[in-house]
Amino acid sequence: MSKLTCNNITKSFEIGDDVLNVLNNINLTVNQTDTIAITGISGAGKSSLLHILAGLDKPTSGEISLDHQNFTELSKNDLSKIRLNNFGFVYQFHHLLDDLTIEENIHMPLILKKSLNASSKAIAKDLMKSIDIYKRKDHLPWKLSGGEKQRAAIARAIINNPKFLFLDEPTGNLDIENSANIQNLIFDISKKYDVALITATHDNEFIKLFDKVYTLENSNLSINNE
Ligand SMILES: Nc1ncnc2c1ncn2[C@@H]1O[C@H](COP(=O)(O)OP(=O)(O)OP(=O)(O)O)[C@@H](O)[C@H]1O
Ligand SMILES: [Mg+2]
Repeated sequence: MSKLTCNNITKSFEIGDDVLNVLNNINLTVNQTDTIAITGISGAGKSSLLHILAGLDKPTSGEISLDHQNFTELSKNDLSKIRLNNFGFVYQFHHLLDDLTIEENIHMPLILKKSLNASSKAIAKDLMKSIDIYKRKDHLPWKLSGGEKQRAAIARAIINNPKFLFLDEPTGNLDIENSANIQNLIFDISKKYDVALITATHDNEFIKLFDKVYTLENSNLSINNE
């Protein structure tokens, strides 16, 4: 089982002459069996932390490693490969590619991994059916409802069998019914595919489902339960 670790992560942004310190000495270990929620008010730094843990952004200082591979020592290319093989990311605003159909969007990680073939297409088809998005496969993203877009974004995030699934407010823009569906789907996926969940959310009911809940406040991360 893989383990993702970050040590003494800091992140600051320079805004004109000011420096905004968003993350301060964050330490966190995520095992592949963990389900983790990260909560905190808007602007607390949840998205920033998720992007850094997933190798999408660099910390100002500190280290992140997956098993024994230290991200700061890897080339951009090697880090991309690690992301493609181990991580899935569901963005806060889904980030489906506007000009591609839903099926093409879901195939994209397979194309990047050079593994789009008859058998992976069949797996993608089964996945789309199991999460009830198959009937919209030939549509462009703008035609879909919020819940459908979110399901497509989740399918795209898990098509390469990641070990860690990052979800940035996956229920943030959904009504109660769609929100409950997405919550169930995420936990079903976690069990079925042995994938860790690292989820940013404001939702106080949703956080009750996770093994561990952390709060980001004043740039610091603390655990609420253990
Ligand atoms: N690229 C950037 N340049 C400058 N400031 C940034 C940048 N990205 C984020 N910030 C700032 O860092 C802080 C944390 O942002 P972040 O998006 O991580 O918060 P969040 O907890 O995800 O908020 P929300 O709940 O609204 O999504 C905010 O004040 C934001 O304006
Ligand atoms: Mg955010």
